[in-house]
Amino acid sequence: MNLKSQLESTLTPDQLRILQLVADEAPQSGLPLYIIGGSVRDLILGSATKDLDLTVEGDAIALARALAKRHGGKVTAHSKFGTANWFLPKDLMTESRESVDLISARSETYKHPAALPTVKPGSITDDIRRRDFTLNTLAIRLDGAHFGELRDDLGGMDDLKQGIIRALHQKSFLDDPTRMYRAVRYAERYGFEIADETLALIHKARPLIAKLSAQRIRHELDLILEEWNAAAMLARLADLDLLQPIHPALTFDSSMRERVANLHTYRGLQHLSPWNITRGEQMNDSDLGWLLWLMSLSQEQVSALNDRLHFTADLLASLFAVSMMFRDQSSFVGWKPSECVEHLESFPVNAVEAVGYVARDPRVKELFDEYISKWRYIKPHTTGDTLKALGVEPGPRYAVILRQLRNAWLDGEVKTAEEEKRLLKSLISEN
Ligand code: CTP
Repeated sequence: MNLKSQLESTLTPDQLRILQLVADEAPQSGLPLYIIGGSVRDLILGSATKDLDLTVEGDAIALARALAKRHGGKVTAHSKFGTANWFLPKDLMTESRESVDLISARSETYKHPAALPTVKPGSITDDIRRRDFTLNTLAIRLDGAHFGELRDDLGGMDDLKQGIIRALHQKSFLDDPTRMYRAVRYAERYGFEIADETLALIHKARPLIAKLSAQRIRHELDLILEEWNAAAMLARLADLDLLQPIHPALTFDSSMRERVANLHTYRGLQHLSPWNITRGEQMNDSDLGWLLWLMSLSQEQVSALNDRLHFTADLLASLFAVSMMFRDQSSFVGWKPSECVEHLESFPVNAVEAVGYVARDPRVKELFDEYISKWRYIKPHTTGDTLKALGVEPGPRYAVILRQLRNAWLDGEVKTAEEEKRLLKSLISEN
């Protein structure tokens, strides 16, 4: 089968141009060149592919150097992994692309279950066989006259057509238990079925989840929380009993599902909110997902989960904050703006925003919204310098007076600069 026309119609002109340059160079070096894995899968499914996964059967670094010699630019080589980045010369560079990754085909073996793989240079056959699922084993050859030839050693095309996620061999999940999470991510992303024999392998490999490092599990869950239908993925993980083996506190009940199901909408709101755009306060996509998912946990559960997953310091602080605010949300009803601000200012703003999205009581929602978009920016005209000029002795009194002025603005007791001046006068004489 030849996929030349598919390549031409699906890739962007920028991707095609680069592909063609590398494809023309490869035969001069005598190196078979392929795109393989996720990029071929997405190409056949007709979706945009971000990375080209250019794999060379042979020395990718030598090919990158040959390209730089012919067209200019620079090469950064990682000889341990046989990979190279070709940083494009100015005339080939575009807004979306500064460099091209070239990878040497490799084999991977696992010294023991759940270990990181031992990587060695290998043939394209090895590179196909080291992979997780058949839908990721398709390769398209690119060099010279071979341009567009499909290589399908393991029935990937049939599985892709039928919508099946199938592990390559019995030991796939024992080698790498993170693949169980990948299986669910692909299945829900594409609406595919996990093959029965692969489900059976998942049941067998479940105990190995305990052996995975915090970082590797968190990475898989981050990837899931970046997807638009993360809720369906987490629900499937819970069905397959792949969450609690990570930690017993990691559940996915119906209220969690409801919150995470709106992740996409909340993400959109975050990206649109003018205060986030101007102040660069957006959370990364997966962090917002973590907050929505876990805000109903207790402080103790968050802490216990952190022992297993090692959240980043920022995310951990926000998780503690959402847990507290979510639990106490109804107590905010009837608070004065100044009381709200004083309380909410002790929490990371992203955490307040996340609880605001899901608050059950519309009055609480409004209060959180006001805080985020307005109240937190309100400040009196008076500053420390004003107080100094008025002869107030510097000290803790400054903070007290400035806070009282700000609270008066927040609660509508002061509405003009004149009124603020009057209040200031009385505060100075009182204090
Ligand atoms: N791979 C694997 N086992 C893993 C991770 C990756 O076998 N634990 C293989 C897969 O075959 C995959 C390739 O390495 O196609 C590249 O991995 P990655 O970039 O994570 O996957 P993509 O297929 O590009 O998936 P996505 O669209 O989610 O980025």
